[in-house]
Amino acid sequence: MKLLIDDAHIDAIKKIYAAYPVSGVTTNPTILSKVGGNPFDTLRQIRGFIGEEADLHVQAVSRRADDIVAEAKHIVNLLGANTYVKIPAVPEGFRAMKILVDTTEIPFTATAIYTPMQAFIAGQCGASFAAPYVNRIDNMGFDGLRVAMEIQKIFTANHMETEVIAASFKNSQQVLELCKCGVGAATISPELFDMLVKNSAIDSAVDAFIADFESFAGAGNTMLSFR
Ligand code: G3P
Repeated sequence: MKLLIDDAHIDAIKKIYAAYPVSGVTTNPTILSKVGGNPFDTLRQIRGFIGEEADLHVQAVSRRADDIVAEAKHIVNLLGANTYVKIPAVPEGFRAMKILVDTTEIPFTATAIYTPMQAFIAGQCGASFAAPYVNRIDNMGFDGLRVAMEIQKIFTANHMETEVIAASFKNSQQVLELCKCGVGAATISPELFDMLVKNSAIDSAVDAFIADFESFAGAGNTMLSFR
């Protein structure tokens, strides 16, 4: 399961990239609104940092299919290969997906997915990824993890190449549950990245090892202090 950062703040992205195995960055209009300014200034900065091989997901905001297609071309033209255009999994979005598949090689991610049927249709339309919103589904009184797992089963059972890129998480356990099922990717906020392995037992174990070493080697010494 690939891990991506669901954020557009370049400093946060750099910090997470330095500490974790990350395959790319996902954004949406809400995420871009938190940075403000020209969205392409933000996105070009992200692309420049993550490199041209990494995945960058950028959402089109038009409502009509033809306009979504025009936005998709513009986004990929400015941000290059490995840029996935996020398109809402609604009828006009499906229409745009079909046009993109028939007339371009632009890859796209079906987004705003709350039901397995949306993901199935998007997959049949040629989406590279489908993004179920785990936490938002939970908040509606349904089971977001179960929806994401059902989508994975549907893709596998129908031999579809579309991958799940699960989004909208509130805790590390949700991420781990999807990891167990082998979903393609999860996109996570910088705050949640830092919670993935946050555990006082782990910190205590590391502290105890250092204290034991310093008890015979002297405070501040490490293996570099000896030969
Ligand atoms: O990309 C979709 C994802 O960012 C939604 O997350 O936390 O706004 O529900 P959230």
